[in-house]
Amino acid sequence: RTVYVNGEYLPETEAKVSIFDRGFLMADGVYEVTSVLGGKLIDFEGHSKRLERSLSELQIRKPMENEALLEIHRELVARNGIEDGLIYMQITRGAPGDRDFAFPSDETEPTVVLFTQSKPGLADSPAAKTGIKVISIPDIRWGRRDIKTVQLLYPSMGKMMAKAAGADDAWMVEEGAVTEGTSNNAYIVKGSTIITRQLGKEILHGITRAAVLRFAREAQMKVEERAFTIEEAQAADEAFVTSASTFVMPVVEIDGASVGQGTPGPVATRLREIYLEESR
Ligand code: PDD
Repeated sequence: RTVYVNGEYLPETEAKVSIFDRGFLMADGVYEVTSVLGGKLIDFEGHSKRLERSLSELQIRKPMENEALLEIHRELVARNGIEDGLIYMQITRGAPGDRDFAFPSDETEPTVVLFTQSKPGLADSPAAKTGIKVISIPDIRWGRRDIKTVQLLYPSMGKMMAKAAGADDAWMVEEGAVTEGTSNNAYIVKGSTIITRQLGKEILHGITRAAVLRFAREAQMKVEERAFTIEEAQAADEAFVTSASTFVMPVVEIDGASVGQGTPGPVATRLREIYLEESR
């Protein structure tokens, strides 16, 4: 695989980042994951806007213009022959010559790393036909989840807790309400109304979320942006999650209780079809 690091395209085995990189030492960095379907980048503009916002909230210098970032994405897709898959992009505050809690001087160049993940048939995932099972766990992450930082230890532990419990993923709960999944936004459907938590600092502002809600409204579906509890979700007609890597993924079980018929529901199935059709 050819990867990109700080201005160079290199074989992955030759790509190197300093041991003093603040992404490595302090999780001082942000990232984006953009999907590729049929060689086409899905919603690059949304991802690059969110990247810009994450960088500016953390006062990390933007290393290059969106045009240049887009060019790197395209180049990696071409060099690695990606039909379906993901592109991971990470930007950190860079590598000063030592470890220090204080931010380094402005001369420190941000570190820029991108790589591809080939996933043939990404849009035809078998899980979309069966749906996934989730468990609930407390949300103990920091208070700025609207910034897409590389602090992914707790979400990663959540995924492992889910697997240990025989489930696929975890929904995080704070003050009695679901915030989001470990790496996706969470939704329920009651009757014909789609319910998902309102935007705020408590959740990541999903790029897929924005697109799906727009398509839902265009299709005259009712959308309510508000918090919901695990009990409300278990009693809902349907549940699902969205992300750049799973698109729209039905959730059929929450903490052992079947949602609706325990199979992917018509609203989630329809939204998945619309999303894939409209964004390809
Ligand atoms: N995760 N919430 C969290 C906590 C996420 O990590 C993600 C994305 C989302 C969905 O955002 P989007 O629709 O823009 O992908 C919501 C990516 C896919 C990841 O970490 O791999």
